[in-house]
Amino acid sequence: MRSLIDILELNTEEIEELIHKANDIIANPSKYSEKCRGKKLATLFFEPSTRTRLSFEAAMYELGGNVLGFSEAQSSSAAKGESVADTAKMISCYADIVAMRHPKEGAPLVAAMNATIPVINAGDGGHNHPTQTLTDLLTIYREKGRLDNLTVGFCGDLKFGRTVHSLINALSRYKNIKFVLVSPEELKLPGYVKDNLKKSGLEYVQTTDLDAVMPELDILYMTRVQRERFFNEEDYLRLRDTYILRPERLSNAKEDLSILHPLPRVNEISVAIDNDPRACYFKQALNGKFIRMALILKLLEVE
Ligand code: CP
Repeated sequence: MRSLIDILELNTEEIEELIHKANDIIANPSKYSEKCRGKKLATLFFEPSTRTRLSFEAAMYELGGNVLGFSEAQSSSAAKGESVADTAKMISCYADIVAMRHPKEGAPLVAAMNATIPVINAGDGGHNHPTQTLTDLLTIYREKGRLDNLTVGFCGDLKFGRTVHSLINALSRYKNIKFVLVSPEELKLPGYVKDNLKKSGLEYVQTTDLDAVMPELDILYMTRVQRERFFNEEDYLRLRDTYILRPERLSNAKEDLSILHPLPRVNEISVAIDNDPRACYFKQALNGKFIRMALILKLLEVE
């Protein structure tokens, strides 16, 4: 039995397999519509979510399975003081696989250590979000046809953005990736993620100037400033609008730039960009359902 807590638990061959499976699901959905008949997915969300929870649920329904769970801690016995470990033991009695989101880093790992069914980390604090990374990799692959030889810009809150940390770790294993890290000084990429980058020997630059680096980017990964991770509301208000992507900012961007965003967006991408062919973020959210279908099949060992 296998869980997924950190994207690096999947090797690059397994990621390729998942991408190919997701592409096959997109091309032949009816082939998969009964694959999880009789199986149950539990979605344990101790923190708000739209895309991750609903795409997991849609994924299981489209595989012919069923879903149970909760969408806020207050409607579970966590509100009465039950531990994550005990919750994981309980849910193992009722479901076949779990997707868990939690505000505390490491909570899904604790769940995986106590469950007898696979646990998928659906986002833990400012730490990791491996299924968002699979979504991002599928989107990059579908847009560019490759996961190597790319210049990838990350812009916004690189300190607290767990999707950024997971995606950088995942891309560090591919050849000739150049990372361009655009953030305010206060929201720079944490040292432990930068250490992984240094170990991989790939090139990276840090800057505060999005416009200066725009022409070289193949991928622009925009992120929201993560209000819920700030200790101080004043700092959030000062930093939240540092980067707003408006159409004029794309005037010197590549014609085939792909703009990604894990969503939700707040103000960092103008709605005027939504109809630009380079905007991929809504396609990206849809891709999330297909790659989660592929992951559920893999972890449940369904052929
Ligand atoms: N991208 C993402 O994790 O979105 P939600 O918080 O809505 O699940």
